[in-house]
Amino acid sequence: MKRIVILISGRGSNMEAILRAAAAEKWSAQVVAVISNQAKAAGLETASTAGIPARAVEHVAYSDRAQFDQALSAAIDEYSPDLVVLAGFLRILTPAFVTRYHGRLLNIHPSLLPSFPGLDTHRRALEAGVKFHGATVHFVTPELDHGPIIEQAAVPVLDTDTEDTLAARVLEQEHGIYPRAVRDFIEGRYVLTEGRVVRHSS
Ligand code: GRF
Repeated sequence: MKRIVILISGRGSNMEAILRAAAAEKWSAQVVAVISNQAKAAGLETASTAGIPARAVEHVAYSDRAQFDQALSAAIDEYSPDLVVLAGFLRILTPAFVTRYHGRLLNIHPSLLPSFPGLDTHRRALEAGVKFHGATVHFVTPELDHGPIIEQAAVPVLDTDTEDTLAARVLEQEHGIYPRAVRDFIEGRYVLTEGRVVRHSS
């Protein structure tokens, strides 16, 4: 059984999508813990209800990013994960943290990277007038929202879209591609080679 730790900051709908897929598809992997940097994250409650150890490591309790990241990795390492999944985890991580989990740290970002790294992606996509928007699952590297791309899904941008309608359409896609990327990682269906993700044929 491979071991997965999921990091969240809020409602945790991507975490839920992963839990659902893991159960429905009987993955040979287990979500062994959910950790949030916000004690009030709704996703912690959802995880506990599902019987998964869920706890907060609050960034506000630490004087700087490096100390928080050290406390966070100490908490993560208690569960000896094969894979660490950022699912709506809204903290910038230090290079030391990212390096520690190199090749086993995934993130989902609500845009078609490399377009629109950072915050407010849906508003920025509308302002830019792009005709397609979407979501990206990628390996995390020290440069924010720039790591090797594993999965992407695109949605058309409609003239009638608001930030909310566009976000909802993208989120629906996130719930499809994130569980798939996690499952494929667990099953060893792709490798990270020279900074790019290469899928095995078959
Ligand atoms: C998602 O849109 C994710 O891409 C972004 O934050 C949102 C988190 O949603 N980073 P949830 O907590 O998974 O519901």
